[in-house]
Order: sequence, then structure tokens, then C-alpha cells
Amino acid sequence: MRFLQVLGAALAQAAIAYVVPQGSPGFYHGNSSSSVTFDAHTLFLDNKRLVVFSGEMHPWRSPSGVPTWRDVFQKLKASSHPWFNAVSVYHRWGSSEGKQGELDFEQWRNHSMVYQTAKEVGILVISRPGPYINAETSAGGYPGWTTSLNATTRLNDTLWTEAWQPYIEASARFIAPFQYPDGPVVVVQAENEYGPSSPQNPGRSEYMQTIEDTLRSNGVDRVPLQVCLPHVNSALLTRLGAVDLYTWDAYPGRYDCSHPDAWHEVITNYSAWHQHDDPDLVWATGEFQGGSLDPWGGAGYDGCYLLLNEQFANVFYKNNYASQVMYQNLYMVYGGTNWGNLATTGVYTSYDYGAAIREDRTLTPKYSELKLQALFLHASLDFQVATALSAGIIGNVYVTVMEAESGAGFYVVRQMMNNITTSTDFTLTVNTTNGSFTIPQLGGIITLAGRESKILVTNYSFGTSNLEYSTAEVMTWFTLDDTDHIVLYAPEGQYVEVALASAAGTVDILGTPLNQTVLDGSLVVSGSLSGISRVSVNNTTLFIVDKVTAYSFWNPRLLRSTDASIYDLAPDVPSVLIVGPYLVRNATIEDGTLVLFGDINTTTTLRILAPSDVSQFKWNDKEVRLELDELGFLSGSLPFDIEAPHLPRLGHTTWLCVDSLPEIRPDFDDSEWVTANETVARRPEQMWYGKYVTFADEYGFHQGNSLYRGHFQGNTARGVNISMQGYAPLLLVPHDLTFSSCVVFPRGIRGYSLLDDDDFETWKIQGNLGGEDFPDKVRGPLNEGGLWVERIGAHLPGFFTAGWNSSAIEATCSPYVGLDGPGIVAYRTSFTLDLPTNIDVPLALNFTRTPTSHYLSMIYINGWQFGRFNSLIGPQTLFPLPQGILNHNGENELLITLWALSTMGAAIEGLELVATSLVSTSKEGFTHGVTTSPTFQEVRG
Ligand code: GAL
Repeated sequence: MRFLQVLGAALAQAAIAYVVPQGSPGFYHGNSSSSVTFDAHTLFLDNKRLVVFSGEMHPWRSPSGVPTWRDVFQKLKASSHPWFNAVSVYHRWGSSEGKQGELDFEQWRNHSMVYQTAKEVGILVISRPGPYINAETSAGGYPGWTTSLNATTRLNDTLWTEAWQPYIEASARFIAPFQYPDGPVVVVQAENEYGPSSPQNPGRSEYMQTIEDTLRSNGVDRVPLQVCLPHVNSALLTRLGAVDLYTWDAYPGRYDCSHPDAWHEVITNYSAWHQHDDPDLVWATGEFQGGSLDPWGGAGYDGCYLLLNEQFANVFYKNNYASQVMYQNLYMVYGGTNWGNLATTGVYTSYDYGAAIREDRTLTPKYSELKLQALFLHASLDFQVATALSAGIIGNVYVTVMEAESGAGFYVVRQMMNNITTSTDFTLTVNTTNGSFTIPQLGGIITLAGRESKILVTNYSFGTSNLEYSTAEVMTWFTLDDTDHIVLYAPEGQYVEVALASAAGTVDILGTPLNQTVLDGSLVVSGSLSGISRVSVNNTTLFIVDKVTAYSFWNPRLLRSTDASIYDLAPDVPSVLIVGPYLVRNATIEDGTLVLFGDINTTTTLRILAPSDVSQFKWNDKEVRLELDELGFLSGSLPFDIEAPHLPRLGHTTWLCVDSLPEIRPDFDDSEWVTANETVARRPEQMWYGKYVTFADEYGFHQGNSLYRGHFQGNTARGVNISMQGYAPLLLVPHDLTFSSCVVFPRGIRGYSLLDDDDFETWKIQGNLGGEDFPDKVRGPLNEGGLWVERIGAHLPGFFTAGWNSSAIEATCSPYVGLDGPGIVAYRTSFTLDLPTNIDVPLALNFTRTPTSHYLSMIYINGWQFGRFNSLIGPQTLFPLPQGILNHNGENELLITLWALSTMGAAIEGLELVATSLVSTSKEGFTHGVTTSPTFQEVRG
């Protein structure tokens, strides 16, 4: 069925009519009874416009589960009450189907619990179940066994369809009961970065359509399906496999974290592409750069944070809004950890990504910048439907002029080139209800402080009040007790000029003084910004604050009791203004008491603006006494009365040690190992040279560190020639799996030969214990590899170390002493923690790196593999051990391997437990100290 969408005059030029894809119920606003619809500007929930301000997080990269997910979701929702209103989640097929046909969605793989937690927090979900995800994860998220299928992945190949369909059917059934309005899921992604068939690549559109049909027939029938593509293309909209919603992805800051100051230019064509590609669809970015991946030997994530910091967010995201992007998902907003063997070969353990919320869940200035932007988008209904009138360089500044039908004007300004890091002063000619003139009017200037972008407004309505213009940016507005309040900000010390379109009444200015005058019937306040200035006139209050002070402003919508209303995030929903805390998670009013939950990281002055019938205040369940302060807030002090905990010194504990490379001995008995006796691989790709197939995956070992023993008879061999591919997380082979031609390359030894002798007679292979029949179903298919200590289960809690040497007897049995030649030794210790439950103190294991010493280490904490360290190339030295995996109130068992790769041997110069932050928190704790996971006795005993 096709139909023409009748659009308003503003879009009369639109060249392409919206077409309802075949087989889809259609989600176009005005033509659909769905609760989730969209038009050319935004999504709608229940016919209310909705800017999607979303961040990506991967629940499976945080296996401690619900308490961690809830903490991140609350930080997202709080950061922009109400418009960091969505979280986008990839689910990972490979973690749920370690063996074909054995689906497992327990604990950290539980899709329903992700949706349930989001529902409780009140944050919407973009669900991206796969099958393929990429995300720098092993096999792009596919199960290891798929790499040995005699099928071409990502095509309509019968064997391939049989492989993915059970997982997608199950994923759809998890989504079904959580579709909006019954739950938080508003959009479901059918495939990632996937285009239609071409003459060179037939079968793609059919594959795509089969995924969509599978989702729809298993209950995903009330929300739009999307795809994420680098380039949306109008031809897609009507083809077989077309989805409802096209989103593009872009990484314009790129990935060079070693040169964080070297910026690329913003892309100014987005708006033109929208007009060309799909002008009738909300202009949506399903992945926009929120940080960067970092490879082995890279700069480290602090460098990535600097490259993609709050200035990047300021300049690049405002460029999106200037292009009418009203659906934006930032990849990543919280990265988490490549624990176990989750990482693809090229990247290391941390997936911090330089994101707004760091791996240890701490908040950054970028998080605060996003809060300012998201609140503005929410508050500015006119901006959501504004269109660009012009864009180009005026003076030294790039200006996009936008206007809404209401007459509201928006001027998105930035430096004309991103390599300009010095300040630029300028004036701007704007259209107002008093005509066209240049601002500032009173002799001041507007400043762009280096890499800064601003959205300046004219004729901006808030409640019954109206700003004629402002050279300070709008953060948010709300109406409280019949008074309209607006919060405006600019960097400290900048001159600002704000004109309120009414001058009658007595003007009262509290806090930092500003000048006031009346021009053409408008009240104009002006001056240099610092701290808080509060300007009151009649029923209007302006807060004009410096940007860093604005970071500490929170404007939470008051939580209501019914589920259905938790997603109603419109600006008319009652809210309060809170100033000061590190984090405000949520706010409710119960019988005249304002109940707040949040976190502080220092003694904090709490300032509140609440309805006048609120007389009592609670912070984290404790009553707080507040008094009227000089700024007209109710204010009081929240004492930060917690101390940094004393942590056990690993240098002082007893270590037990054992040789973990017995396989190197010539008389080692490998008769129980798998014999690599296949001569033709099941998969299409074959060996480059060598008689037997030696891909580890062929024999059921998919984890990434398998051992090979080659047997040969001759005595003339001078050496061995081995080609490895995509399979050495510790050794750094550059490609894992490449999907460019829909082919997954084999992993392991791709070719072998003996130099100057006959061939190997046999190859024996050993990987993780049990291969696809791995015993530890909780930690899952990728946790363990093939090292001796992993195969005997020495990493698991409760392992009995009988026969191991001890540092109490032999001082050399310590990772700080190490080995004096090549080899692998494993060290084990335990320590007890007893940390108060009201503090959030993320702990990490810190290595002192000695690049002159070539060794590799693996970290196991309580049976979970949480780190791979490379002394030679780094860069990661700090390995977060998340609460819930680490027991903050009990015993912890730590295993470290030390694999010395040179004849010099190796020692770990420094290895200590450190705290990376200290916060007084209201976050959810772990009922039993840790997430439930089996002991040695339960899975190996
Ligand atoms: C995108 C992809 C993501 C992730 C990202 C880079 O193209 O969709 O899964 O790999 O690149 O971090």
C-alpha cells in the first residue's frame, strides 16, 4: 500500500512522498493509530512531540546487572530531566547462544530486565537485538559457532536463517510486552549498518525483510523498525526490506585519540542530505559520535575523552540541531568493559570510550554539557519544528538562522573553522518583534570562547512570558506558582544582554549585579556573567548564570505514581529547580514534603525552588532544614561526611603461585586434547597452507586463546612458519573478523609449515574447558580461555590451591618478583572489603607499566576475567573492578597471570587496588554483595 502524505506549506518542496513500507502497519503521524508515530520533524508519543535524546549503553558490558544498569539509566534520565529520555541498547546474540540451539537469557543477558529497569526509571528504549552489532566485540556479536557454518552470513542463506532466527524470535518476544505505552521500547532496530541488495551482493534485501517479518510475527507490532546506515538513500524507502525509520550514523571527530586537539570540520551538508534523502521522515541519527574506540597501543581513553570532550559535544551536536536532527543517539554514553573475551582483537579491555559517563560510572563535564543541550531541546517546542532560512559565514562566524512558524528565531553560531581556538567577538543582526537590529544593542559584544557554539534566541516564549532576544543561551524554563522561570547561561566573564519583551513593573536583581534599562518597551539586563544573577519582574524570573554554575542546576520533573505517566515528559509536567548536588536522581512531592534522591561528592549547598505548598525537604531519606537565602532559594548544607576507605595492600598479602605453561614440556600428555584432523573446513574459507585445518573455531573453541601442539618426526627442521589470523587477543593480530563482503574470516592458525623438514604429523588443539559445552553457564561462553589455570578452574572462587607454592614460604612466589625467563606463572591471593553501603567508591586494579619489560597479564576477580594487560604497548594500566563483580562487603579472590615473552623474564613492578572516585550515594546496592555466580565446587567440583 502506498499513500501520499499531505504536508504543510513549509514542506511543499519535499520531493519524495512518504511511503509506508510493505508489510508494516505504518507509523506516520496522522495516518496511524500507533502510540509511537513520527513526521518530518520528530517522533510523537501519544500525539505529543518527542525529541529523542538518547545515549548508547551495552548491558552485557556491565555483567554486575540491574544495580549498575539502574545507576546508569538514572544518571541518563537525571542528566536532562526530561529529555535524555532514551537509552539505546545493543543485545549480544553470541553471549546468549554459546552452543547452537541452547539459548540462555539469564542474569546479565536478560533482555526483559533491561526493559523492566528502564521502565522503572522512566527512560525510553531503542532496542537493537542484532543479529549483527559490531560494537568492537568478538565476531561482531555473533556466536563463535557461526564462524564455522557453511553459510554466508548476513544473507538469505537457509543455513544462516536457521542460525539467527531462534535468537531473534526470542528477542522479539521479550520486546513485545514492553512496547510503548506498556513499557519503554519505542523503536526496534532490525539490522546494523546494512544496505539493500546490489548486483554484486544479491540476497541482502530478502535477508532484511526476513528479519523484519520475524520481529513482526513475534509480537513487535506496535513500534517502528529502524536501520542504522552511514548514508540514508532515498531509493531505500520503497525497496523490499524497507524499514519504517531510517537513521544515519556519523563519527566526524574520528578516532585519533593521540591528537585530541586536531579536530576535523563539522559537516554542513546534513540539512541538504535530509532534503534530498528523506525529507518526510524525522531526521534521525541512530549513532552519532559520543566518544571513540581505542586500539591496543593507542592513546588511552583519557585522550579519547579530550578529543570528544564537552567542546566537541557543544560544537558538533549543535550543528546537528541546526540541521533539524531531532532524534539523536550518542554512541557511547556509557561504555563499560570488554570483560572476558568480549573484545574484538584490535581493542583492549576497557570500553570506556571517552564517553560522558566514564567506565567507573563517574560524571564528566561532557555529561553536564549534554544536560544543558537536552534541557534546551525539551523546553523549546518551537525549535523542534524550526526550519533553516539561511546558513553561512557572517564576518568570522558561521551562522545558521532558523525560524519557527510562531515567529521564534534561533541563531546557531560557531567559529567558521574548527582550527580556530582563540576567542572571536562578533555582533549579530536579528529579527525581533521590534524589527531587525544588531545585538548587543548597548555597546557590548558576543563572544565565542575558542571552540564554542551557541544557540541564541529571539521572540522566545516561556509560559506567558517572552524573551525579545538573549545573547545568553537558554537552558530551561518552567512555571512555578504562576511565575515563569527561565535559566540562561554563558561562560563566566562573558558579556550578556537579555531583553524581556515587557518592561512594566518593579525590577529586583539578586546575586551578581547586572545593569538594567528599558529599550523600545523591553527590559534589557546586561553585564558580565559570574555565579548567579536573579532578575524578577512581575510574574517572570530570569536566572542568568555562568556555565559552570549552570552545570549544578537540575530541573527534575516530579515523578508521578502511575506507570503510564512516567514517560509523559512534556514541559507542562510539574518540576522543581535544584541547585548544587553532583547528581539528582529523582524528585517527588509527598504530603507537602519534597523527597529527593541524589549523590554528592563534596559538602554541598543545596538550593531549592519548589511550589509554595512544599514545607519539608528530604535528601536520601533524611530531613534537611532549609532557610531562605540571599538569592531567594530555600537553602541548606548537605555535609559530605564520608572518608576514603582504607584498602588492602596487595603488596602485603600472601600470594600463591603455580606454573601455568606445563604444555611446553616435551613429555606433556596431550592425548586428551582435540586432534585437528579435518582436511576440509566446514566453512567456505580454507587453509592457506598446511594439510590439516587448524582454525580453532572448527573444533569448538571460540574464546580467543587456544593452545596448539604440533607433532613432527624429523630432526632437520630449522623452524616453523605460521600464519595467524584474527585470533590473538594477547599477541595483537590486527584483524578479527571482517564483514565487508559478508564474510567472517577464520580465526586461529591459517597456515603452517616446517622449514627444511617434512610436515607436522598431527596438530592437537586445546581451548576453554568443554568448548561449546562450557561448564560455567553464568559467566557464559566467552569468560574463560585455554590457559592451564583456566582449564583447571583456578580462577574460580573456592578453588583449592593444594600443591601451589606460597610467598609466605618462598619470597619469589610473587608477581612483584616474577619470572627470570620466558613462561607463564599464575598468582592467586584473596582480600576482604567492608565498605559502607552509602558510599559509591569504584575500585580498580592499577598496574605500573614498564614498557621495557615484555609481558602480558590476565586478571580474574571472583572468577570473572576483567582485564588483559600488555606491558609493552599498553595503553591500559587501570582496570576497573565493578561493584557486584567485586564484593565490597566480603571476601574476594584474585588471580593474575604473568606471561613473560622474552628471555629476560618479567615482573610486575606495581600492582595495587585503588579507588577512582568517592561519592556519597543513593544508588541501589547489591543484596548479597555480589551478583550471583557459581563457585569452583558448583561448576568444576
Ligand atoms: C559504528 C558501529 C558501532 C561501532 C562504532 C564504532 O559504525 O555501528 O557498532 O562499531 O561504529 O565504535
